[in-house]
Amino acid sequence: LVAFPTETVYGLGADARSGHAVAALYALKGRPSFNPLIVHVESVMAAEAIAQFDDRARLLAATFWPGPLSLVLPLRIGGVIDPLVTAGLPTVAVRVPAQKTALALLRAFDGPIAAPSANRSGSLSPTTPLHVASSFGHDAPMILADGPCGVGLESTILDCSGAIPTILRAGAITADDLASILGEKVTTATQPAPDGTVRSPGQMLQHYAPRTPLRLRAVDVIPGEALLAFGPTRFMGVRGGGSLQDLPPGAVRNLSETGDLVEAAANLFRSLHDLDRIGASHIAVMDIPTIGIGAAINDRLTRATQ
Ligand code: TXA
Ligand code: MG
Repeated sequence: LVAFPTETVYGLGADARSGHAVAALYALKGRPSFNPLIVHVESVMAAEAIAQFDDRARLLAATFWPGPLSLVLPLRIGGVIDPLVTAGLPTVAVRVPAQKTALALLRAFDGPIAAPSANRSGSLSPTTPLHVASSFGHDAPMILADGPCGVGLESTILDCSGAIPTILRAGAITADDLASILGEKVTTATQPAPDGTVRSPGQMLQHYAPRTPLRLRAVDVIPGEALLAFGPTRFMGVRGGGSLQDLPPGAVRNLSETGDLVEAAANLFRSLHDLDRIGASHIAVMDIPTIGIGAAINDRLTRATQ
């Protein structure tokens, strides 16, 4: 097992052809059940050896890879992926990451690498090497440390195995981005269906939670709380009187002082990790617009409150 950076979050990698390696990965991560993994490859050609591509998938791969888009496609029959990776499903999630160390690892290894986020199951995704080390403690695997992740949110997952392309997890690449390339409608199913059917285990709520509870759309801070700010904080006060300067040091993180959503996404998990450590009663979170990547930011924040 080796933890490595991607442009989204750090991944915990195992040889996707080896049941032993993948079983060890599930054990270290402590996933409660076998939840399928994303397979990382170095090129579209390598992806086509694993999954069945149609014209739509080829167009998306040509447009967005390397990049933060995972495609769920039918598994290639007789391929090399161990069934533990796909949890026995007839489909596989695959992507080419846009991060130089990830690509160097994939080229040197010369094989598919299954990689979930490099954190123990149920906790926040890691966007720095230190997050990986502190999540696993003494059991930490080898970590290829290469600084913070540029995007900072897990990849968009698009299910292309059915008639209508469907987003299973929101990310930096939005439904509008995908629809404008495909010239067709893209649906979103990031929540379980009303009858409770879960299409992707990633739809399960409470997946990205810090230990400290969040309070969303906060317009002020209650004493004892930490603040996750977005944009200028001029008008934020402390309930009962006082200003942000009165909060203990380390109790405020601003995702982007200029209100830049891309910068905010890159800072989201790091800021939550930081604020989670100070023993606050809640993390008050200022309103973040749901424009563009803001939809994925709000998706992660909402899950963390459930
Ligand atoms: O950005 C990312 O995607 C990161 C980096 C390391 O690449 N990886 C990541 O992996 O977030 P993980 O294991 O935390 O999330 C994988 C998600 C899970 O929600 C899983 O249920 C879904 O992908 N998934 C995997 N294979 C699937 C399949 N065949 N059908 C539907 N969902 C699938
Ligand atoms: Mg994860």
